[in-house]
Amino acid sequence: MYQTKIAGLGKYVPENVVTNDDLSKLMDTNDEWITERTGIKERRHIKKGDGNTTATMGVKAAKVAIERSGISKDDIDLIVFATLSPDYYFPGCGVQVQEMLEIDTCPALDVRNQCSGFIYAVSVADQFIKTGMYNNVLVIGSENHSGGLDFTDRGRSVSVIFGDGAGAAVLTRSDHNGQGILSTHLHSEGKHALELSLKGPSTNYWVTEIIADNPQGEDIPYYPYMNGQFVFKNAIQRFSEVINEGLKENGLEVSDIDMLIPHQANLRISQFVQQKFKLADDQVYNNIQKYGNTTAASIPIALTEAWEEGKIKEGDIVVLAAFGSGFTWGSAIIKW
Ligand code: ACO
Repeated sequence: MYQTKIAGLGKYVPENVVTNDDLSKLMDTNDEWITERTGIKERRHIKKGDGNTTATMGVKAAKVAIERSGISKDDIDLIVFATLSPDYYFPGCGVQVQEMLEIDTCPALDVRNQCSGFIYAVSVADQFIKTGMYNNVLVIGSENHSGGLDFTDRGRSVSVIFGDGAGAAVLTRSDHNGQGILSTHLHSEGKHALELSLKGPSTNYWVTEIIADNPQGEDIPYYPYMNGQFVFKNAIQRFSEVINEGLKENGLEVSDIDMLIPHQANLRISQFVQQKFKLADDQVYNNIQKYGNTTAASIPIALTEAWEEGKIKEGDIVVLAAFGSGFTWGSAIIKW
């Protein structure tokens, strides 16, 4: 069995900064409410005409990750793309990336799994590398949320939370035994699928039907729905469980964690997890203040920034953990 390591990381966020005050001009909200409930001060939104889409942002992040990995794009054996906001209903963004990077017929697949999408994608990539089927896998998490949110009073509890951006990692076979991904842990609980969901457009909710059924535009199911407090309670429970599961599997203690990178769902969720595990401020990385919740992109963006800022060193135990719509949750334990 081989082992997988992260050879290169990259991120891309649109230039357009949207502050809480900017949102308060569109809907009945304010900086104090958003900061107190979520920790978010600003987020990035794609601007019409800036050339950004879920796939193109993914490509920009991927180019940085590939460059830093020292691996030629032509040696990438597989692309795994995690998103809940693909450019098209089908095909997925993975094949768009393959075409834009001009990688000759390499397989490309999309992973859904929302906020846990990047962990799921890393786990998929890890299995292909571990078994020896592939050497180099490009994993991307990218989201264009701003294109699908309701920026009126009706959507305010959801639309203030989410932001746009992309992160990417090149995963390769590790040369050093014991260095790289030690384990990944995945879970889902479909009975809560609709507690955080976007029902349409879909084969059940075609746009034409939605418009015919809702001529006044009431309760339209093509904006996300979130049962915020229920999501919050489940998130803090599952985050803790799946981090403990990863530590136990590898015979590690909480004190062995050098850096925890939680999915940037809400600063209060991250702080709750930090307090539960009694981790110091420099053992947990948060950047939701700047970017909001970028779902599948949040972990690779945060991981890239933590690495760029020198907060992750060789030999460190790095824990990635996520929880999101599905419900889905997961963790990855990495020896850097
Ligand atoms: N600005 C001002 N007021 C608002 C806003 C807003 N943007 N949104 C809602 N309100 C009002 C509500 O109308 C309500 O008013 P009322 O008391 O007069 O009825 C009041 O604020 C409280 O609303 P709640 O929805 O109960 O607010 P809550 O304290 O639960 O906070 C939040 C909402 C931030 C979404 C919270 O539930 C939460 O953090 N949930 C966790 C979910 C999460 O983080 N999801 C991220 C995506 S999922 C994931 O990544 C795991």
